[in-house]
Amino acid sequence: MTQSRRILITGGAGFIGSNFVHHWCRQHPGDRVVVLDALTYAGNRANLASLESHPQFRFVAGDICDRPLIDQLLREEAIDTVAHLAAESHVDRSILGPDAFIRTNVVGSFTLLEAFRQHWLAQQQPEHFRFLHVSTDEVYGSLSPTDPAFSETTPYAPNSPYSASKAGSDHLARAYFHTYGLPTLITNCSNNYGPYHFPEKLIPLMCINILMGKALPVYGDGQNVRDWLYVEDHCQALDVVIQRGQPGETYNVGGNNEVKNLELVEMLCDLMDELAPDLPIKPSRQLITFVKDRPGHDRRYAINATKIRTELGWEPQVTVSEGLQKTVQWYLSHREWWQPLLSPEYQAYYAKVYSETA
Ligand code: NAD
Ligand code: TYD
Repeated sequence: MTQSRRILITGGAGFIGSNFVHHWCRQHPGDRVVVLDALTYAGNRANLASLESHPQFRFVAGDICDRPLIDQLLREEAIDTVAHLAAESHVDRSILGPDAFIRTNVVGSFTLLEAFRQHWLAQQQPEHFRFLHVSTDEVYGSLSPTDPAFSETTPYAPNSPYSASKAGSDHLARAYFHTYGLPTLITNCSNNYGPYHFPEKLIPLMCINILMGKALPVYGDGQNVRDWLYVEDHCQALDVVIQRGQPGETYNVGGNNEVKNLELVEMLCDLMDELAPDLPIKPSRQLITFVKDRPGHDRRYAINATKIRTELGWEPQVTVSEGLQKTVQWYLSHREWWQPLLSPEYQAYYAKVYSETA
């Protein structure tokens, strides 16, 4: 029997956050679930529409830097568990403007940790309280093709303003355990993909551009490697870490699916050619366009997930070919979800990053 919880999920209107909220409500139907999300460009309340009438669910539009609001929520909802997913999450945006990354990822994470610590102290430090800080493999920097995969003891070497800001917040979560005994847990995961992924990221961007007959911008030589983790597998890992993880520990979460970017884009082209009716340009591979590389572009990420497998019994279930097929089908059948996101603000962002190909 698992502990019933009153969980605060930050960033629950974003990509992984909303998948996690749906996962938690499905797996733990008796639990109180409170979502705190500032609804930035990446947050979308529609992701949670089917839960709005659920009596155990509450959505709060608000900022993780707003300490009085967080204090009030922790108290009035008697929160015992925080799953912290709110963040500025896109590397290309962090290159254009790092300020928001420092504010939300560093200052916001600190604000949450400190508020949760005071709340935990006021409740006499209950043993079952948990603070899960969700982070990224990008804090470990870049691997060469032959380096061993990142483990939990790999030294931090972040290379982008995004990964540097996440590294800062990881260090704070760690310090709050070591200094104050606050039961924090950290997960560092690889690239997620699946439903509700905002169009600016590689996989949805390619799916949408193929449907619109637009160029498919591949950075540099397309040989950078990412490890792809289906988002539902990730949600299951976060669940297991909250239930059974050891406070103060870090768990790496990976998909066992290392793929070069160009190969991934080619797989998406072939899937779209097979599954999408009436593509404006077919075969889609002819849309592939090599563009200027991202500054500081990490060459390879790879995760050694032995610890979470051996200690907590978690393993990814979805292979990259299954997951891509599901994802392509989701984008094909949810045009009403992604079309409104291609807003004038998004077009302006797109023009800035892809000036060569836009
Ligand atoms: P996302 O950008 O899709 O969603 C982030 C959410 O946080 C949005 O709903 C946004 O409105 C909200 N938010 C932003 N600033 C906020 C603030 N100041 N206060 C409250 N809410 C705010 O991100 P995602 O891809 O779902 O990532 C979730 C977490 O997982 C992040 O911490 C990210 O660093 C981490 N992560 C993501 C990936 C990935 O592949 N997407 C990989 C590794 C780690
Ligand atoms: P992204 O989805 O932005 O995730 P991250 O940078 O956090 O790994 O990008 C995944 C990979 O795809 C990364 O190596 C950069 C590359 N990429 C492109 O080649 N073209 C694009 O238009 C985008 C958005 C990413």
